[in-house]
Amino acid sequence: MKLCVALDLPSAKENLDLAKILKSEDIWLKIGLRSYIRDGKPLLEKLKAISPHFKLFLDLKIHDIPNTMADAAESMANLGVDMFNIHASSGKKAMSMVMDRLSGVQNPPLVLAVTALTSFDESSFAAIYGESIDNKVSQFSKDAYESGLNGVVCSVFESNLIKNSTTKNFLTLTPGIRPFGESAGDQKRVADLVTAKNEQSDFIVVGRPIYQSNDPLGVTQKILENI
Ligand code: C5P
Repeated sequence: MKLCVALDLPSAKENLDLAKILKSEDIWLKIGLRSYIRDGKPLLEKLKAISPHFKLFLDLKIHDIPNTMADAAESMANLGVDMFNIHASSGKKAMSMVMDRLSGVQNPPLVLAVTALTSFDESSFAAIYGESIDNKVSQFSKDAYESGLNGVVCSVFESNLIKNSTTKNFLTLTPGIRPFGESAGDQKRVADLVTAKNEQSDFIVVGRPIYQSNDPLGVTQKILENI
């Protein structure tokens, strides 16, 4: 299991300061829409310069027509990131075209599919997709697997289920982790490290329990010792 730290701080400086504190650790860093739109490629370069151990996950959740997605995938690969994500609801053709395009790239990044955004409840989800979240997550995961993606972003409670319906090696990346039972904040369904391990999550995403702590390095090291 790998630890992915969410760089969700309000400025590039604060994100870079956190990265400097964590530079000795073998971790992934998640850069989301807000940070990437604001700070762009220079932020990625500065993070890589802080530590060669860092792996970068660009969390932009791409969703567009197949050709545009394949172009965007190539651009993201050229940024030198180690992983990015796209929406499974963009469809199998778009997902396959993304993977085809990356087959021509040296050291292609891992590609994950977003299944169901956790901000949906059953009724708001059904209003768009016309199905239950569970059914659709299974179908999206199968679609992503058959399209050659490396894995999915999902709730920790769906990880085992997804592996059972695809393969053990199909990666799951799970946000909403409160490693040692910290405050959930706005997350609805949180899980600790023991649960994430039992659910065979490959990547856990942790934000606030690290960057809001008085000792981000200490918390990070404690998580790494326990995974
Ligand atoms: O601070 P916290 O650990 O809750 O941060 C979780 C990170 O994972 C945030 O960047 C959040 O946007 C992201 N995320 C999530 N749930 C999803 C997808 C992404 O919490 N379903």
